[in-house]
Amino acid sequence: MNYSRFITAVSAARTASPIRLLTELMQRSPPSLISLAGGAPNPNTFPFKTASITIGDGTTVEIGEDLMKRALQYSASAGIPELLSWLKDLQKNLHNPPTVEYQPEKGQMELCVTTGSQEGLSKVFEMLINPGDTVLLDAPTYPGTLAALRPLGCNIVNVPSDQHGIIPKALKEVLSRWSPEDAKKPNSSLPKFLYTIPNGGNPTGASLTTDRKKDIYQLARQYDFLIIEDDPYYFLQFDKPWAPTFLSMDIDGRVIRTDSFSKILSSGLRIGFLTGPKPLIDRVILHIQVSTMHTSTFTQLMIAQLLQQWGQKGFLDHVDGVVDFYKKQRDVMLVAADKWLKGLADWHSPAAGMFLWMKIKGVSDTQELIMKKALEKQVLLVPGRAFNINSSNPSSYVRASFSLSSPSQIDQVSAVLLYLPACQLFGQICYHSASCHHCH
Ligand SMILES: Cc1ncc(COP(=O)(O)O)c(C=O)c1O
Repeated sequence: MNYSRFITAVSAARTASPIRLLTELMQRSPPSLISLAGGAPNPNTFPFKTASITIGDGTTVEIGEDLMKRALQYSASAGIPELLSWLKDLQKNLHNPPTVEYQPEKGQMELCVTTGSQEGLSKVFEMLINPGDTVLLDAPTYPGTLAALRPLGCNIVNVPSDQHGIIPKALKEVLSRWSPEDAKKPNSSLPKFLYTIPNGGNPTGASLTTDRKKDIYQLARQYDFLIIEDDPYYFLQFDKPWAPTFLSMDIDGRVIRTDSFSKILSSGLRIGFLTGPKPLIDRVILHIQVSTMHTSTFTQLMIAQLLQQWGQKGFLDHVDGVVDFYKKQRDVMLVAADKWLKGLADWHSPAAGMFLWMKIKGVSDTQELIMKKALEKQVLLVPGRAFNINSSNPSSYVRASFSLSSPSQIDQVSAVLLYLPACQLFGQICYHSASCHHCH
């Protein structure tokens, strides 16, 4: 892989901050080191002293005085060592990436902690995109990605997809505009990367099949583009065995994977992690050095303590419990949709994640239906437009999230939706009955 071909001039110009390097050196040194170097404040002056955090199973995560001093202090930009090594072991165990044994410059697997996967994504995009570059994705997709991409001035090309994600034949068709040889030409418009959400897509709920992933990876090799595998719903797959990831197939070192603890440990603690070829992850770490400096040491330590206490097995047992919850919620959502919306809307059962993506029949755009009529009935869903590459284009879809509501609330929302298309179509005249309180 010629990584320099992918990175922008801004990213290539990043150099390590000498002060950050000293901070990292200090943290690796024995306590006997006397340092008058870094600009770290003295934690003895900080007001917080200890913490004891109760876990669901009744055990506690204890942060004693010494650990608290570390938790409140600056730390390495890539992440604190104990969390990094725990996460590296997890990735090796779950994905067994071929790149683990590669030479660093040949794309050896590297990992860094990010402040949620959103930070990782936006920094990866900024590392790779020059104005005018082409990128591929399967819209409708996560608005956080679209919002990060649009201002970078790239040409976003949509790749057709269905309930099983990107259709490899359609990707091939899109790529036929270029020749694989274009990858060797400077300033070529060949796509730099393909972005996709491989499990429980946001908003579609779609999950890529293993065969499709293999075909897509082969196309990436042929046309020499990177794959950004944004997988926050990986741990919310409802059925085992979990699908092999792009990272697990990555013999070239062309996959950048974003993971997130937001859906399984906490969204507010803001812990995500990036896994990918070292030459690219190192560029992201240099960017972190000059922006957030590092993800909060406190939240990293809190998570690291918990993960060390649990071990990988305890962590995966916890994940199983979370999956059980979401799977039941998914089933409640499907029963409610079946009860109220059969014939009025179309949907596919999601195999992962927390979203049901519904096409409302006879409605060309759900914007007003949801933002006005549904809201008047105290019901909130996301109109499909929000997930289009151009969010002013109409969409017949709505996204219903089944993460937070109780079964009876999910049932109520579906019932309200039953009446809305009719009201939308017939304006003030309701075809259900003159006194229909849903419509008037
Ligand atoms: C597809 C996708 N990617 C990334 C994110 C951001 O997650 P995080 O909380 O890890 O930043 C989300 C959040 O909903 C998401 O749905």
